[in-house]
Amino acid sequence: MASTYDLPGFVWNKATELTDGVYRVGVNIEDPDYLFEGLWPIPDGTSINGYAVRGEKKAIIDLTQILFDFPDRYTKQLEEIGFPLEDVDYVIINHLEPDHAGFLPVMAKVNSKTKFYCTPKAVPGIQAFASIPLDRIVEVNDGDTLDLGAGKVLQFFHAPNVHWPEVMVTFEQSSGVLFTCDAFGSYGRVDEVFDDQISDAKQEWYIQEAERYYANIVAKFSRFVVRAIDKLAPLVPQISMICPSHGIVWRSKKDKIIDAYIRLAKYADGPAEPEVTVIWGSMYGYTKQMVDRVIEGLHSEGVKVHVYRVPKDDVGYVLGSAWRSSGLVLAMPTYEYRMFPPMAHVLDDFGRKEVKRKKVLRVGGFGWSGGASKEFSNLTAGLEWDCLPEVEWQGHASPEVLQKGYEAARELARQVKAYALK
Ligand SMILES: Cc1cc2nc3c(=O)[nH]c(=O)nc-3n(C[C@H](O)[C@H](O)[C@H](O)COP(=O)(O)O)c2cc1C
Ligand SMILES: [Fe+2]
Ligand SMILES: [Fe+2]
Repeated sequence: MASTYDLPGFVWNKATELTDGVYRVGVNIEDPDYLFEGLWPIPDGTSINGYAVRGEKKAIIDLTQILFDFPDRYTKQLEEIGFPLEDVDYVIINHLEPDHAGFLPVMAKVNSKTKFYCTPKAVPGIQAFASIPLDRIVEVNDGDTLDLGAGKVLQFFHAPNVHWPEVMVTFEQSSGVLFTCDAFGSYGRVDEVFDDQISDAKQEWYIQEAERYYANIVAKFSRFVVRAIDKLAPLVPQISMICPSHGIVWRSKKDKIIDAYIRLAKYADGPAEPEVTVIWGSMYGYTKQMVDRVIEGLHSEGVKVHVYRVPKDDVGYVLGSAWRSSGLVLAMPTYEYRMFPPMAHVLDDFGRKEVKRKKVLRVGGFGWSGGASKEFSNLTAGLEWDCLPEVEWQGHASPEVLQKGYEAARELARQVKAYALK
């Protein structure tokens, strides 16, 4: 893998003072071929953000990943702001996932006095991942505080399953800075740290990157996201900044990311945007012919349409689009008595991520006896989808069959408009 330094656009990230005594210590994943979670393409990268708070005592929150030269860059940034590792008093572990906590064993080794603060659920994991002895771990209850002196007080709120069971968020009471780890996070490299340093268009880009991040990483845990947001609601008037562990720091437009997350979590119920995601695969173009007619039908009803071809388009993008859409069109032929394989992969992922309660139309051709239809029913049985009668045909689709597809698409679009979130 290429060294980070060799990649175009490489910037040596510096620590940023967010407010008096509160810092962001962040690095970007720059490699366009890197797969997040070993799975999801992030051609525009993402950032791994840690934070540091100085009272009379020094605390660091959300560390970094053991990847590229991140440990060096992270350490160096901490040194620049007066937090050499051996001087850190407390390490706050909001989340044990190795993109943040990978650095824990290094920290524990370099500094033998620092204490590690986490939820009770994180304790076995901290020992397993980082071999940190129990007497160095401090379990925090929901709402507990840690006084750093000089007016800085950290307060911890458990946020189970946003994304792993042991997750918590940390609130610095005097500054109103909320450290949310994966929640409110996004893909996308970070060069300017604050939302108000970038254009509205760039903010929108981060919101879109947050949407794909959400669909890929957090979607399955949406009900826990709702619970966490409800729990933190009383805090909102005091929040001055939202500091996620991926993406920018939201301060002047913090409502934008909060509202986006509330909406993303709501999509789990089914009704989402008045949009349709068309996902298609075709070997010889017979199913593609129908896809073109279906798209015409959708457009004729004025709904927004997103089109993805599998396997060319990565399922990470397909998921992001499907999550925000109230309607889906799945178009695939029969292949070896089952469905075109990359579509089965998409549907399997929809099951795992719980892309539920959508308005759906399936279309597709077959050569002799079909089989895609049966596999489609099996793979989507648990998704509570409201499916229109499917449009299937042998060989090439006749003008009458194409017209049937066109009309079905119009009906889908009408249903989507009525069903979508207002
Ligand atoms: C590798 C392969 C496997 C196929 N398996 C089946 C099958 O099991 N049952 C069937 O009815 N048709 C089968 N077909 C025929 C296709 O479903 C048919 O040619 C269809 O029109 C292809 O549509 P497309 O051009 O959109 O790919 C298969 C075709 C290929 C190339
Ligand atoms: Fe995570
Ligand atoms: Fe993360």
